[in-house]
Amino acid sequence: MRLDPHSFADSGQPQTRSIDLELRADFGARVLEGEVALHFRSPGAGPLDLDTRDLSVRAVSALDGTPLRHELSAPEPILGARLRVELPAGSRGVRIRYATSPAATALQWLDPSQTTGKQPFLYSQSQPIHARSLAPLQDTPRVRVIVGSARFTVPSRLRALMAAAARGREPGSGDEAVDTFEMPQPVPPYLLAFAVGDLSSRQLSSRCAVWAEPALADAAAAEFAQVEDMLRAAEKLFGPYEWDRYDVLVMPPSFPYGGMENPRLTFVTPSILAGDRSLVNVIAHELAHAWTGNLVSNASANDFWLNEGFTVYAERRILESLHGREASELHATAGLHDLQVSLERFAARPELTRLRTDLRGVDPDEAYSTVPYEKGYLLLRRLEETAGRPAWDEFLRDYLGTFRFQSITTQDFLEFLEARLPGLAARARALEFVDAPGLPPDAPLPRSLRAEQLRRGETDPANPTELLVFLQGLAPDSVDLRELDARFGLSSRRSLELRHTFVLLQLRAGAPEAVDSARRVLLETGRMRYLRPLYTDLSRRHPEAARRIYEEARGGYHAIARSMVESVLKEQGALR
Ligand code: BES
Ligand code: ZN
Repeated sequence: MRLDPHSFADSGQPQTRSIDLELRADFGARVLEGEVALHFRSPGAGPLDLDTRDLSVRAVSALDGTPLRHELSAPEPILGARLRVELPAGSRGVRIRYATSPAATALQWLDPSQTTGKQPFLYSQSQPIHARSLAPLQDTPRVRVIVGSARFTVPSRLRALMAAAARGREPGSGDEAVDTFEMPQPVPPYLLAFAVGDLSSRQLSSRCAVWAEPALADAAAAEFAQVEDMLRAAEKLFGPYEWDRYDVLVMPPSFPYGGMENPRLTFVTPSILAGDRSLVNVIAHELAHAWTGNLVSNASANDFWLNEGFTVYAERRILESLHGREASELHATAGLHDLQVSLERFAARPELTRLRTDLRGVDPDEAYSTVPYEKGYLLLRRLEETAGRPAWDEFLRDYLGTFRFQSITTQDFLEFLEARLPGLAARARALEFVDAPGLPPDAPLPRSLRAEQLRRGETDPANPTELLVFLQGLAPDSVDLRELDARFGLSSRRSLELRHTFVLLQLRAGAPEAVDSARRVLLETGRMRYLRPLYTDLSRRHPEAARRIYEEARGGYHAIARSMVESVLKEQGALR
């Protein structure tokens, strides 16, 4: 039986317990070339179905090197190509020699011109289903793997980092070196991650450091100085941190997400280096995933809200314990605004606004939105409010402890909830959140006194998050945007959170400088959170400019961002 709508992995076949990776990065050809060994949980026989995408499979053998019969099927649009290997009786694993494609969806190869230090850079982004373009494997969170050994051969002036424990550097041949890693905790394949570049680090505490290109390292260390405090706050709330180190890697601007919770090594966009620590909630979020997502993982994309809704909830609990209730409520207010925007965007596809989804035949990258984040958050908040915080906090720790290092469905969560807090789900009418589209009319509302004062114009914003909430509440034609800009220095802000919100106002007000302001943001970042709304509004009003700016900027975007922008432009008729 298939384990996951987005994987060929079959529950009747041997399951991988451990993998070994040996890869050489060829920056000239933009391929990784090498070998993966999959070791099974227990010996098996018969067919083994693996996920692949755009891989050149060179040889398949048993662990002892005996060649094995295998067949690579024609690729399917969302899933990629099934690799079926015929296992002889008593097989303990397989070994596959292969190469990735320059078009591998998990990889971005950057030219020296695309980094601050003008050095080549390579990184991976496996979530949700791109690990299969890095290596043939059972690419479903249902099959967690440890990494016995990973070896990356890279140019010796660069360094490989992996979301794993570093084991050291060995000399390679010529001007190459081999960076080695191991990952003793079992993780879903979507958390397999690495980066190669000119990277240096700054220690933040005994178990935390930040990595970045040398020119950004000091700024990053200053921005993220509170990481150890966050970690302690999170441990107090959710139990011990199980991953040993917590490091942060600042990615090049093309990184398509705000952050990615790769274990031991969160990847973040450089756009959160606002200079004033105003965007460190992204770090709180990725750190929180160490519990909600990495320790307890969604079983498939259908249950994505178990990762993201819980993590937004956990993120705001961390913020609350460090900066107080008003600060976390303000974030929740901004989140509710994002949720309303997403619900409108999916008006024609309401089924994608349920928390529990059925994504058979749907590309999870296309279903991606803020809904599982903020609607999930509101459900958990409702459960907390109904149970009372002490009982709810005890439940949370119990949940994390019970399902640690497992991948679960929404049903598993609901059954566990019923067993531990009988009747709570019914009293909170949880199923309305879980299985109905949209937002229940009586969903909990964040209560921020500051947000209300700001919206009534009784006070001026006193920090960047207040300013954001204030801007989100403005109607474009009700304000003098030039005056607003002069008052708050909006168009010269480092924070793209603020700047893109202001540019949206300019676009909607038809301000003459809007196109140029939009262009500057669109050239500065590849983060989809900013690209999507800006291209949507820009192409509605200025389709020709949208197309032109995209042509100029697309080289700096990740493939996933490019296809998202292209579908936005097509929808608006700005691109054929
Ligand atoms: N895991 C996500 C990013 C992701 C989701 C990548 C799905 C690929 C597929 C990450 O934890 C995340 O949610 N990032 C947010 C951070 C924000 C909610 C603070 C982002 O990128 O904006
Ligand atoms: Zn997340």
